[in-house]
Amino acid sequence: RKILTEDLPDAQVIVVSNREPYIHNEDKNGDVELVVPASGLVSALEPITRACAGTWIAYGGGSADHQVVDGNDRIQVPPDHPSYTLRRVWLTDEQYQGYYLGFANEGLWPLCHIAFTRPIFRDSDWEAYETVNRKFADTVVAEARNEWPIVLVQDYHFALLPRMIRERLPEAIVITFWHIPWPNSEVFSICPWRERILDGLLGSSIIGFHTQFHANNFTESVDRFMESRIERADAAVSYGGQTTLVHAYPISIEWPVELLKALPSVEESRRHIRERFGIPADAKLSVGVERLDYTKGILDRFHALEELFIRHPETIGQVVFLQIAAPSRGTLPAYKQLHEECQRFAEELNERYGNETYRPVVLVAEHHSQKDVYEIYRAADICLVTSLHDGMNLVAKEFVASRDDEQGVLLLSTFAGASRELLEALIVNPYDAAMMSEAMLQALTMGPDEQHERMRRMREIVRDNNVYRWAGSMLLDAARLRKRGELDRVTA
Ligand code: G6P
Repeated sequence: RKILTEDLPDAQVIVVSNREPYIHNEDKNGDVELVVPASGLVSALEPITRACAGTWIAYGGGSADHQVVDGNDRIQVPPDHPSYTLRRVWLTDEQYQGYYLGFANEGLWPLCHIAFTRPIFRDSDWEAYETVNRKFADTVVAEARNEWPIVLVQDYHFALLPRMIRERLPEAIVITFWHIPWPNSEVFSICPWRERILDGLLGSSIIGFHTQFHANNFTESVDRFMESRIERADAAVSYGGQTTLVHAYPISIEWPVELLKALPSVEESRRHIRERFGIPADAKLSVGVERLDYTKGILDRFHALEELFIRHPETIGQVVFLQIAAPSRGTLPAYKQLHEECQRFAEELNERYGNETYRPVVLVAEHHSQKDVYEIYRAADICLVTSLHDGMNLVAKEFVASRDDEQGVLLLSTFAGASRELLEALIVNPYDAAMMSEAMLQALTMGPDEQHERMRRMREIVRDNNVYRWAGSMLLDAARLRKRGELDRVTA
């Protein structure tokens, strides 16, 4: 907020994302039920938008929107403490299908993640993607109070939007954050619209990634496919007479002071969660919490558990793995198949290693509130964040933040951006079931002193590098750019 008032006075902050922070759904009785979606992007951006009383533009995807809208596209949120404007964009089924399910989630998502799921590119999806990006550009222009807003464009749903905004609001500061990995230029080259995507993104003043590695991959792609100049010393790209900064800004969470106050103690959480999910009181609890997505390595975790039971049979009966998997993009074949495979594998493990009172795997494919999720973290002995590939992964940071008792062990994939910061986690390769199973054993047998030492250090890191610092560094860079632009104009 200080940066906004002192360094960027008069700046209006407009956030654009596909997913809205509060989805208004209809429950069984036709009443409006508010859902906060399972999305790292939403949990990171929400506190920022609240703090700067901005405007958040998103796709209106709730089944109760016809009730809430009442002829009005703009509402004030959060509902219990209105502090910013949520402006919904309505899409036709065809647009949603082509832009969101098609190009974004069957094309770009598998293209950018190394998970060996083949991207699907269809002309009609691309057309819908372009149309929807244009629709959002129209909305940004309509919401802008002046010609120089700060527009925070979020993620792979909007690669064309920065250029579209730049054409209509040349003075705007457009900060685009790509929340997922960026592949190397060889992989990126298979996208039929690669130049269009790069041209679209280079309409931004700043492009942010979670890691330097992904920022470098992006710059390499620009270097290979666009007539541009790469200024490595400044981490910038000059293209078409404009300069774009390409930086790493590791995303984080809001340190959950209030939330922790509202939660039961660790002891109570342990008891309650064990009762709720039928987990024996004396078993160690290992948890996974994420969207049901093939990039998250859920099946690989099941393999690792099986490997643990084969290599160390004494652990059978001593550990339960609770997997919370929020359904996501469930109409796409790749996601349906994953869901079925997860269910089948969980049943197999339970048949093979369980008995009447002991189920080694509890798979709950349902959405859970933030409060529920934090209680689950607090009840856990081990948290498994073993994605095959991930931009950052905020579950790892949330788990650490939830543990004010400074206990619990984090197993973290080396292919998640979070592993660059949380060095005290047990870092694993999710493709290596033997290694994962040994890390699970190490976690199961780790003494409280070592747990404390590791957790304390990780908590310091997440508390210091919180989401305000993430947004603050981008806004500071934006302020520098604006100052430089003003100076250039004066000296010209
Ligand atoms: C990832 C993406 C977000 C997205 C979230 C949930 O974290 O980077 O942009 O919102 O997944 O996916 P969904 O498709 O349900 O919005």
